[in-house]
Amino acid sequence: MKDILIKNGRIIDLATGLDETGDVLISGGRIKELGGSISAQGAEILDATSQVVCPGFIDMHCHLRQPGYEAKETIASGSKAAARGGFTTICCMPNTNPPLDNAPLITYVNTIAEKEAAVRVLPIGCITRARKGDELSDMMTMAQAGVVAFSDDGSHVKNPQLMRRAMEYSLPLGLPIIEHCEDSDLADGGQANEGIVATTLGLCGIPTAAEEVAVARDIILAELTGARLHIAHVSTKGAVELIRQAKKRGVKLSAEVTPHHLTLTEECVLGYNTQAKVSPPLRTQSDIDALIGGLKDGTIDIIATDHAPHTANDKACEFGLAACGISGLETAFSALMQLVHSGKLPLPLLIAKLSSAPAAILRMKLGSICVGAPADISVINPHLEWTVNTANFISKGHNTPLEGSKLKGKVTATVYAGQVVYQDET
Ligand code: DOR
Repeated sequence: MKDILIKNGRIIDLATGLDETGDVLISGGRIKELGGSISAQGAEILDATSQVVCPGFIDMHCHLRQPGYEAKETIASGSKAAARGGFTTICCMPNTNPPLDNAPLITYVNTIAEKEAAVRVLPIGCITRARKGDELSDMMTMAQAGVVAFSDDGSHVKNPQLMRRAMEYSLPLGLPIIEHCEDSDLADGGQANEGIVATTLGLCGIPTAAEEVAVARDIILAELTGARLHIAHVSTKGAVELIRQAKKRGVKLSAEVTPHHLTLTEECVLGYNTQAKVSPPLRTQSDIDALIGGLKDGTIDIIATDHAPHTANDKACEFGLAACGISGLETAFSALMQLVHSGKLPLPLLIAKLSSAPAAILRMKLGSICVGAPADISVINPHLEWTVNTANFISKGHNTPLEGSKLKGKVTATVYAGQVVYQDET
């Protein structure tokens, strides 16, 4: 493996307090030297002049669709898309076919990932068997096979007794429970955020209360059991406040928000735009403001993509029948840069929410730039403008409401385990 010398970048890592211009030398898959001007004979040079060098991003929430839905995505295609988006570690959700609810399936994902993935892939196992919400999955054997969390993402675990037991079982395993917090009765039949847009379109709405009732219940159960609860894709102002108050009481809680819930409002579904149909639905500017506030004061720990690739046919249908989800790995960072350019979020904090913060939840020694650490690094040009063209996506999922959007800020290179796994050609 050739050494790599990243030259003259602004190296940012909030976790270690690093923000200085200099070089990074990578050797044997690890960071060997850092800062100042480094010379290394024979090393491959990555010129990062006027660019940012930061820890490779960690996505705690994406859908790779393998096994079962390979027309939407595979571990190979999804992980390559991740590399393009600056991600060096991705955690994949278990709503595959069959769902990842037992150890042999986890071993299957790990085996394929080892052979075919461009970046580190960490599987998440189901909370309940086949995600049906009736009985617990084989949590212990899946933990032994290497899952990093448990989730029935796509559905809320409706039965509170079962969720209590899942939390109790997760405790000795030391792994978090990731909950899709949406009360299925309150959300029943809903297609978009309950409000002016849904009414205008004649669609049944999903009230913010559907999320908040579920968040409140799961916080109470986390408080009861002492389990580590991670709330997926928080979308409402009320949920942010419930999490804030619970954290103040000392509940072991973490939470994520997606790039789309931070940057897009319910208005994107006007015209019955199925590309903007997601679960939970896009909300309002007031929710976005609360989510940004939550990121800044630590209520919301991380940003996760919820990359949800679908085929063209899954979206080319009437709104009520369309699949929920946005293919987000390749646009996540650039879309989020809007918040930096508009002064709403400092760049070092954005980077931390995508790297050191998810590493802390996963309790892994990743997401940081320091000597000896694994060489997982993203190089970013904060000012490079580009237009989203899904025809160029590496992901099999071209489903995004951002097609044709002009974005400012782009990942220009990704280094994973000491090797360049993506380099921008524009
Ligand atoms: O929009 C979504 N799509 N939200 C989810 O929770 C699931 C995901 C999917 O699997 O397509």
